[in-house]
Amino acid sequence: MKTDIAYNQLADAERRRQESNRRERVYSRCLFALATVATVLLAATALYSLLTPRAPFSHPTPSSSLPRPQAESCSDACKIVLVESIPEGLEFNSSTTHPSIFQAWLNLMSEARSSIDIASFYWTLTNKDTGTEEPTAYQGEAILKTLSELSGKLSVRIAVNTPQQSQPQADLRQLNESGADIRTVNMRALTSGVLHTKFWVVDKKHIYIGSANMDWRSLTQVKELGAVVYNCSCLAADLGKIFEAYWFLGESESIPSPWPSSFSTYYNKDTPLQLPLNNTPSSVYLSSSPPSFCAAGRTPDLQSILSVMEDARSFIYIAVMNYLPTMEFSRPKRYWADIDTQLRRMVYERRVKVRLLISCWASTQPVMFPFLKSLASVYDHKSKLDIQVRLFVVPSTPKQKEIPFARVNHNKYMVTDKIAYIGTSNWSGDYFVSTAGSALVVNQTASQSLEPTVQSQLREVFERDWDSDYSKPLTQNSDLKDLC
Ligand SMILES: *[C@@H]1O[C@H](CO)[C@@H](O)[C@H](O)[C@H]1NC(C)=O
Ligand SMILES: *[C@@H]1O[C@H](CO)[C@@H](O)[C@H](O)[C@H]1NC(C)=O
Ligand SMILES: *[C@@H]1O[C@H](CO)[C@@H](O)[C@H](O)[C@H]1NC(C)=O
Ligand SMILES: *[C@@H]1O[C@H](CO)[C@@H](O)[C@H](O)[C@H]1NC(C)=O
Ligand SMILES: *[C@@H]1O[C@H](CO)[C@@H](O)[C@H](O)[C@H]1NC(C)=O
Repeated sequence: MKTDIAYNQLADAERRRQESNRRERVYSRCLFALATVATVLLAATALYSLLTPRAPFSHPTPSSSLPRPQAESCSDACKIVLVESIPEGLEFNSSTTHPSIFQAWLNLMSEARSSIDIASFYWTLTNKDTGTEEPTAYQGEAILKTLSELSGKLSVRIAVNTPQQSQPQADLRQLNESGADIRTVNMRALTSGVLHTKFWVVDKKHIYIGSANMDWRSLTQVKELGAVVYNCSCLAADLGKIFEAYWFLGESESIPSPWPSSFSTYYNKDTPLQLPLNNTPSSVYLSSSPPSFCAAGRTPDLQSILSVMEDARSFIYIAVMNYLPTMEFSRPKRYWADIDTQLRRMVYERRVKVRLLISCWASTQPVMFPFLKSLASVYDHKSKLDIQVRLFVVPSTPKQKEIPFARVNHNKYMVTDKIAYIGTSNWSGDYFVSTAGSALVVNQTASQSLEPTVQSQLREVFERDWDSDYSKPLTQNSDLKDLC
């Protein structure tokens, strides 16, 4: 929750100029690499369509130039569970509940036999870290204790965004002393962003991915959503490649271009991994940002979001903490409307019903609201333009108000009539251009099973929150002082 602090140091103008030069160099390298890849793909595609008889629905894919995997499907009996942190005191009149993220992390640690790899933004799991005396820090402290014990027994690797002097580092010191391997990723130098990803890979077999930081508040005082997938070595191997990229960058001063082939993947939006999830045939892939961190075959996170929207036929529900059609942290200011334009297009061209559930708390940037009001103003019943925005507010007692950077809906997911998308990024330009994040995309439209799909479970979470007393419609006349 401390991005703002992380970004404050960007105030140094000189450094910024250097960084933006550097970024431009990185971009032009990227663009060149992309252009090269695109040319090769076009050639491959042309060749492919010359050599293949035309089928009505065959669409050549970017990965068609990669060698096919040995086994395209995965026979593991993968089990996926949605997990949530519900802030202390929040109550829903709903039967929609999921296991806690705290419980999920405990389960993962108790399953671990050989290795735990964690990609993380920052570590504040104890009261000491935050200068608080909160009983609800217990869960975070228990996680740190168990993880420290395991660090002496198995391989525990932690990739973390390079902390600043002002940030607490006691947890990392304790883990290091207990035997964990820690690498700091200097995102500021690499991309002018931060490592914002939050995921776990355990025994190269189980994974967790979601919005929760390694922060005690993420377990009891902030509303979070994630997914755990157990017994799923194919998916874990693919997430492992994203982890290895961070691990590599922890020791490297620059981003490889292209990435060595060991980081490449076969699984992306065009050729997802086919596997049974909860006994249901599913197509799944992991996307990653920024684009310069994507090895061959990897779908960049923004492309994944845009294509999930494109594929929707009746609704797109989005729950994110921040939504801004801008580069939130860049100076001079930059407008960035890729997602905003896609949403307006889907509403207008497809008549898709769009709902955005955005968070409002003391630290919300006021400039978010005019842009959200602009989106909401597209609603017009007569013209069948169906888009609505609500603000989710986590109420606080006076005592809870004193907890720094807490009491907020920190979710980052999207659910359409077809797809469940569970991510780690806020929705503003920076998170797709310079900040590291990743997402799990699940497609179970082929399901004939009686088990609820991930999509239907996620839709229920969204509807529970949307319909609750904690969310208020944003209208042209809304005065934020009354809302949050
Ligand atoms: C999202 O943005 C807010 C405001 O800049 C920040 O406090 C928060 O840490 C970001 N999200 C995550 C997952 O950290
Ligand atoms: C971990 O501890 C070793 C030895 O005390 C030290 O050299 C290293 O810098 C520490 N690493 C981190 C990330 O704190
Ligand atoms: C994972 O597989 C093992 C062995 O088949 C099984 O005992 C365990 O219950 C499974 N875990 C989950 C969460 O399904
Ligand atoms: C989801 O899977 C179905 C069939 O398995 C496929 O036709 C569809 O294109 C997929 N959608 C997306 C967005 O991947
Ligand atoms: C739950 O329902 C009760 C009674 O209908 C109502 O007073 C309360 O405000 C509701 N709470 C939420 C969080 O929706």
